[in-house]
Order: sequence, then C-alpha cells, then structure tokens
Amino acid sequence: MSDSRTRVDEALRRLAVLGERLPSAARPSLARDSLDLVHALLDEIQRATASVPVEQAVQALYRRLVPRWHFPMLNDDERNGGYEAALAEHVRPHHTVLDIGAGSGVLAVIAARAGARRVMTCEMSATIADVAREVVAADPHGEVIEVIAKRSDELTPDDMGGRADVIVSETFDCALLGESLLAIMRDARERLLAPGGTLIPSAARITAMLIESDAVFRLNRVDTTRGIDVSAFNRFSTASYFPVRLFRHPYEVLSERADVVDLDFAHDDLLPAVTHHELIVTKPGVCHGVAFWFDVTLSSTAHLENSPENPTSNWHQAVQLFDKPLPVETGDRVAIAVAYDDTSISFSRSGPRISHVRARSADQNGEAGG
Ligand SMILES: C[S@@+](CC[C@H](N)C(=O)[O-])C[C@H]1O[C@@H](n2cnc3c(N)ncnc32)[C@H](O)[C@@H]1O
Repeated sequence: MSDSRTRVDEALRRLAVLGERLPSAARPSLARDSLDLVHALLDEIQRATASVPVEQAVQALYRRLVPRWHFPMLNDDERNGGYEAALAEHVRPHHTVLDIGAGSGVLAVIAARAGARRVMTCEMSATIADVAREVVAADPHGEVIEVIAKRSDELTPDDMGGRADVIVSETFDCALLGESLLAIMRDARERLLAPGGTLIPSAARITAMLIESDAVFRLNRVDTTRGIDVSAFNRFSTASYFPVRLFRHPYEVLSERADVVDLDFAHDDLLPAVTHHELIVTKPGVCHGVAFWFDVTLSSTAHLENSPENPTSNWHQAVQLFDKPLPVETGDRVAIAVAYDDTSISFSRSGPRISHVRARSADQNGEAGG
C-alpha cells in the first residue's frame, strides 16, 4: 500500500473513532465541550466528504479538540520532574493512585513506576484518552494502569474498585484556577479519596504585583494605526487575565509583591471567595494592571511556579489589565479585590486608593485623593 494511502486509511480510522464518540459527546458527561465538539465534527466531516482531503479534515479536528499547550507542557521537564519527585515521595506499593486528567498518560505511568499497585487515570476528552491508552499500553508499567474516558466528577469509587490512596492532578493554567482545579479537588477529596489519603498538589499560593507596560497593555488594546482609528476593536479586548511571558516585553514593577490567595487543598473549603489587598507602590509610574503567578506545593520538596524569575516554565505569567491606566506614586497603596470561583480568577481595583503622597498634595491643591 502506498504511503499516502496508509495515511489516509489511518486518518479514516481516526475519523471513525471520533464519529463513534458523537453519541457520547451529546451526553451530559461531556457537557463542557459537547456542543462545540459536535458542531466541529459535523462541519469537518461535511467538508471532508465534499472536497477537503480526509487527512486535512482530521488535522482540523485535532486542532479544535486538542489544545497546542499539551506539547510545551509535556516538554516541561521541571513540571514532569516535580510530579515524579512528589509521586516517589507519596506512593507506597499497596496504593491505588487516581490521576485526574490523563492527557498523554504521563503522570499515570510515573505513578506506576513509583510502585503503585494500581493506577486509574480519567480523561474527559475521549480523543485524548485514546492516545493515553496507546502510551500506557506501550509502557512496561502499563499493565497496572487503566484509562477511563470520563470526567472526574462522573467517576465513582466503583469505577476504580474503591477510593484512591493518592489523587494526583495537573489541571491548572497560568492563573492556577482556570481549568477548574478548585471544583476538581473539592469533588475528588470528598468522593474519591480514601480517608487519610494524599492529594497532589497539596497547596497553592497566588502572588501578584502592579506593573507598568505599554507593550503588555497593547497586547489587548489598540487606538490608531497608520492614522486610522481602530479603537472600535477594543470591544474584543479581554476583560479577564491572559498569559504573558513578561520577560519578552519591556515592563516596570511598580509595587511590592503580595500573596493574594493561599489554598490548602485538603483542609480549605475551596469555595468561591473574594479577598481584599493593598499593593504598596514602590516606584512612580503608570500602572497598567496586575501580573500574577502561582506556587504549587506537590510534596515536601517539590514545588512548581511560574513567577517572572522562571522563564522556562511552560506556564506564562498571568496579566489582568485595569480598565484605565492608573498613575501611581511611591507609597501609594492600591486597593485590589481578588475574586475567584470554580473556573476563574479576576482582579479589580476596589474602593478608593489610599495615597499618602496624593493626600498631602490634595490638601495643597484641592484635588480629590484617589
Ligand atoms: C493540563 S493537562 C495534563 C495532562 C497530564 N496529566 C500531564 O500531566 O501531562 C489536563 C488534562 O486534564 C483533562 N481534564 C481537565 N479536567 C478534567 C476532569 N475534571 N476530568 C477528567 N479530565 C480532565 C484535560 O482534557 C487535559 O487533557
């Protein structure tokens, strides 16, 4: 068979696998992406049967179904090594491990290598779960691993032959909470973890600081270009955070760093909350927003963090811009409210800015402070 024919056959096989998933995609079990998924599949299948070569259609489908960040994530040796150290520290030979969010299956294989008696790994994307099965089947430790194509909140202890001694998960984005880590941990520790069991990660912190950066501001805002007012495009600006590799852009740090969220996954309620902070300005400038990052505790020795000092992490820093740039003076205290829930975190300026410098000049020139 010619090479291209083989490739087309393989593409058809994969298309058929995806087609088989259509009924399950309509189940509430895949509610999160089901509608988009079904539309994408129908779209692409329709195009494939018209004129687009099947292989191309499959590629287009994969682009929609599997985020590109899986590649840098899998190549992040610090991340993989951190999980390896944590699993080596916590896994005992009699343990059952549950890995939530299999992806390629790498953490499940690491857990099996650490000596777990049994490893279950669940994956909400059926397409990705298929690949995890392939990876696991090819690994010498694969026989103790089972890949289940389910969301963690649909998994039952019966699916796993009982609750897990160790639950491990890497379901966090650059802002820690954007991939539903809180909901996943809350649910998993209540229903799927054995009494006295271990959660990996066990804790996390988010740290923030004020920044000035016209370049970062312009990643999300525009005024005029070549004399043309294109500011109408700002209706598409994101109001929430977005990932930025700070070192790639000129920026100034305008405040001290403040820890704004502290989570203990075993003991905190992990419910939505709003916390209030004051960021103390250390340098005068025009503040465009807040840069923030996480430090996640995997074990007594293993941490993962995406601070600006760690430019090789696969996680960028997160930046949330203020609605309007804010001029600040050294000593100002900028009041910030940090609101988080099961799927997001957002920073907003809360209340008046307490400004020692401005308060004095307000006395002198009659300007309103803050
Ligand atoms: C950031 S990736 C990590 C993959 C893999 N564990 C690793 O470390 O390379 C997270 C994976 O979890 C899956 N996922 C996210 N939330 C899930 C959930 N509640 N239940 C099952 N899978 C989930 C996503 O589809 C994605 O493949």
